[in-house]
Amino acid sequence: MFAPFVLVLALASVVLSSPLWQRREIRRNADVSLSNWGGFQSLNGFDDFNGVGNFDGSNNVQTVVVQEEQTVCEVQSIEVIQQKLVVLREMVKKVITEQICEVEVQTIVLEQFSSGIGSFSSDLLRQSGRQVGFDSNVASKISQLVNEDGSLSSSDLGFSGSDVGNNTVVAAGSNWNNTTSPSSVQSALTAAQAAAGFVSLPSQTA
Ligand SMILES: *[C@@H]1O[C@H](CO)[C@@H](O)[C@H](O)[C@H]1NC(C)=O
Ligand SMILES: *[C@@H]1O[C@H](CO)[C@@H](O)[C@H](O)[C@H]1NC(C)=O
Ligand SMILES: *[C@@H]1O[C@H](CO)[C@@H](O)[C@H](O)[C@H]1NC(C)=O
Repeated sequence: MFAPFVLVLALASVVLSSPLWQRREIRRNADVSLSNWGGFQSLNGFDDFNGVGNFDGSNNVQTVVVQEEQTVCEVQSIEVIQQKLVVLREMVKKVITEQICEVEVQTIVLEQFSSGIGSFSSDLLRQSGRQVGFDSNVASKISQLVNEDGSLSSSDLGFSGSDVGNNTVVAAGSNWNNTTSPSSVQSALTAAQAAAGFVSLPSQTA
């Protein structure tokens, strides 16, 4: 449980000289059960969703669906993209604060959400060995999150965390280049992390 923290301290104590340390590359799923953690009844069955040792869902099987008409990326203005992602972020806050009352449970659920996003980052960097895709069945359920009056629905959406990836769609058309992109995406990540105020620490291959 304390391992990541200890690792951070270990890294922090080394001289700052080498390339950027990437927080997300150090994190790995561990066999930690959170079902009934802290005696919270509301965490009953928590592990059943993704499975123990699959906290972020990155161990899920990905089945890429062959589409009649291939999805191709199509450029939108950056503001439109940012608006969409912020809507999703605010919805995350709404769900967590309106439908969970225990702050400990709110904390655990948010961490699961964040780690799932973190694993997508390593997909984007092509460091995970996973497809860079999304589950189209699950994504299509967004319209079922709210009732007609705008309040959050309480309906069971009929799937488990381990089903995510079963209908993976991979959009074509990205500019990924096996030769040049590994370093250019790393530069992009480093630039963004600098903007986020990440502290640079030396990398150490564990
Ligand atoms: C996963 O997809 C396959 C076919 O694409 C289907 O047979 C199976 O029932 C799906 N499983 C779940 C849990 O959705
Ligand atoms: C990838 O980049 C290299 C180096 O710039 C270039 O020679 C190559 O043609 C590119 N490959 C593709 C598929 O664009
Ligand atoms: C790029 O690398 C991936 C993974 O190694 C490989 O599947 C793909 O065929 C490569 N693409 C090109 C254009 O070489």
